[in-house]
Amino acid sequence: MSKKKTKRTQWFTDARFGMFIHWGLYAMPARHEWIRNRERISKEDYQIYFDLFDPDLFNPKEWAAAAKAAGMKYVVVTSKHYEGFCLWDSRYTDYKATNTPAKRDLLREIVDAFRAEGLKIGFYYSLLDWHHPDFTVDRYSPERDAPNKAELNEGRDMRRYAQYMRDQVTELLTEYGTIDIMWFDFSYPGEDGKGHEDWESEKLIELVCKLQPEIIVNNRLDLPYEPDVTTPEQFTPSEPIKDSDGNVAVWEGCQTFSGSWGYHRDESTWKTPRVCVEMLINHVSRGGNLLMNVGPTGRGFLDARALQCLDGYAQWMKYCSRSIYGCGVAPFEEAKNCRYTYNPETNRLYVHVLSWSPADLHLPGLAGKVRYAQLLHDGSQLSFHEKTQGYGTYAITSDSCTIHLPIIQPDILIPVVEIILK
Ligand code: GLC
Repeated sequence: MSKKKTKRTQWFTDARFGMFIHWGLYAMPARHEWIRNRERISKEDYQIYFDLFDPDLFNPKEWAAAAKAAGMKYVVVTSKHYEGFCLWDSRYTDYKATNTPAKRDLLREIVDAFRAEGLKIGFYYSLLDWHHPDFTVDRYSPERDAPNKAELNEGRDMRRYAQYMRDQVTELLTEYGTIDIMWFDFSYPGEDGKGHEDWESEKLIELVCKLQPEIIVNNRLDLPYEPDVTTPEQFTPSEPIKDSDGNVAVWEGCQTFSGSWGYHRDESTWKTPRVCVEMLINHVSRGGNLLMNVGPTGRGFLDARALQCLDGYAQWMKYCSRSIYGCGVAPFEEAKNCRYTYNPETNRLYVHVLSWSPADLHLPGLAGKVRYAQLLHDGSQLSFHEKTQGYGTYAITSDSCTIHLPIIQPDILIPVVEIILK
């Protein structure tokens, strides 16, 4: 694959924040998108969801408006998840939205709605397929413990399945205009698993790059070379992720509001809006993007818990997005209880004050470097002192710049000090 990464990925690393959408039949049982695996549900028993799938409150314009308001710049939507159900009108299967009571290409409506809001479009496409007749039973299949497993695999042909994937990916990348991201999921080589030989990953990625030369492809195809983007999951690295040259890699952490990706009615470990905003800051300060997931309900709407988290982003991003877009790792050691981001274009440093104390804020290494400091959300000036200016008694170390914070924490989820460097 051609590797002109920086140019191709520039929009992506500038954007920093996207919406992940997991939506499929599993939204109906509402107990996690792995439900067929976890509960070992047979194809026959799972059919009821297909027969009754009728998202009467589906309005992707609402999803797109919420994403836009939250400050998200792109969306990655599950065109197909492990269950094998396709949200679009694929010619290569009957297991698709058009054949349910929904009776239409839901993917197209999602794409249109998000594009209309100016967001870039990514397709998640599952490499696993627990519905396809050629997909061999393996360690993740719902039938993995069946006594007649060998028998079940008779006549199944992964070569045909690999062709099916190429056919479907061709549809996705030729019938929906420019697609900005292709997000394959996932490989599990080894015993009873599947990897690049099963997916025919080389052919698949070649096809993707041929059909959409500017597209960004993730790293889950089990290929030996460096991917466009590395995708840690439910995990925020404490340091920047590096590529083989030792530079900050292009990476994107994907995270959930609660533990599940698909809609999960009874999951109660929802993150607060504050935690969500902090996660975004943490990702960007380590040089990464955040792909934050929503799992719409079976009726097609985003439930109140998801909307509340998205609204938390909206409130904060309205005033503070300057510390996110175009920003990455800062070339300074972070002050206590603070998280930094830095915009190399504007040469501005963003100090996110994670725990407000009305004391002076000492920024190591910044003496003599600060031209002006202000609270980002309201643009109000902050005074500062530096030992180099003759105020040595105020500074704890000789090289720090000391910002004087107001006594009362400003009314914003996480306050940000914007430092305009010399
Ligand atoms: C996890 C989940 C899977 C989801 C993926 C997104 O692997 O198990 O269902 O699609 O994360 O990265």
